[in-house]
Amino acid sequence: MRRINIENLQSNMIVARNIYNSEGRILLSSGVILSESYIERLHSLGIASVYVKDEIIGDIDIPEVISEKNRIETVKIVRQTFQTLELNHKLNVRQIKDTVNNLIDELLYNSNVLVNLTDIRSFDDYTFAHSVNVCLLSLMTGVTLNYDSHKLIELGIGALLHDIGKIKINKEILNKDDDLTRQEYLDIKKHAYNGFEILRKYSDISLLSAHIAYQHHERWNGTGYPRSLTGTDIHAYGRIVAVADVYDALLADRPYRSSYSVSQAIAILQRMGGTYLDPRCMTALIANVAVYPIGSIVELSSGVIGVVVDTNKKMPTRPIVRVINSRNKDRVNAFHEVDLSKMSTIMIVRALNNKDI
Ligand SMILES: [Fe+2]
Repeated sequence: MRRINIENLQSNMIVARNIYNSEGRILLSSGVILSESYIERLHSLGIASVYVKDEIIGDIDIPEVISEKNRIETVKIVRQTFQTLELNHKLNVRQIKDTVNNLIDELLYNSNVLVNLTDIRSFDDYTFAHSVNVCLLSLMTGVTLNYDSHKLIELGIGALLHDIGKIKINKEILNKDDDLTRQEYLDIKKHAYNGFEILRKYSDISLLSAHIAYQHHERWNGTGYPRSLTGTDIHAYGRIVAVADVYDALLADRPYRSSYSVSQAIAILQRMGGTYLDPRCMTALIANVAVYPIGSIVELSSGVIGVVVDTNKKMPTRPIVRVINSRNKDRVNAFHEVDLSKMSTIMIVRALNNKDI
């Protein structure tokens, strides 16, 4: 399978992964043959890309740090949590804690799996799916930094609810496609403090989790908001969630731009490390990400082109590559695989777009 931008979808392509809405309902299931009307419908729902079956790449299984079922369930719970608070009802802290505990258990069980970019979200669901991703990336960073389970739970709860203050912001401003006015931008910035105010009222939520909502837009060099804190004056949880928040936002398709590739997003993070982001948290997050996710097309220094079929957590830049095009760009008939972790002289030169093969 491979991920294809909605603009490049064609009828007769076959869906390779279920597409869900944030209520956990399947919009299109794996195996469905796309038609023009399906593609139009996906467009109107704001789905920006889809996994389709691909004969060159074949049926490569893309392992995930958490199961699809658990991810969908968690997105649903985040959505319900936002709705509950919008109605001024009380937060179900027990449910949030159980959810975060489940994520931690599954992450630890899959601790040798790198994050492969696989989730597809509609624009309406952005905040909910984003919250789950930020939570997962933050927890993985916490595991890399040797956090114990108590710290992981504090970190996970704050990360999952880092944007909860958005419930108090006008939806039209939040979902606006064009440039924001100065006043609208100031309004959006209030979500950090609002979130802190909401979470700190719960005695069974750690105050440090509430501080994640407060601090996730602070920046290492003091250029963030709302308090322009610098360096380690920002709590470590806030610094971790800031990195996860930026990284996931770069990978998302947004109404005004399509997503960056993983290698582009990592390069951007690396430039931000030491200025906007804590370099230690940035490095810890990157250690968990598949630089060349399974299914991506790469050019090797030997001149051949291949598709990544497996990743290697100890050497993220040296995955296993199935050669699909020879040095003179001819399609090879018999696929063979190169394990770059065992070939010290061959490396990946660059990631290619789908249209390059
Ligand atoms: Fe935020």
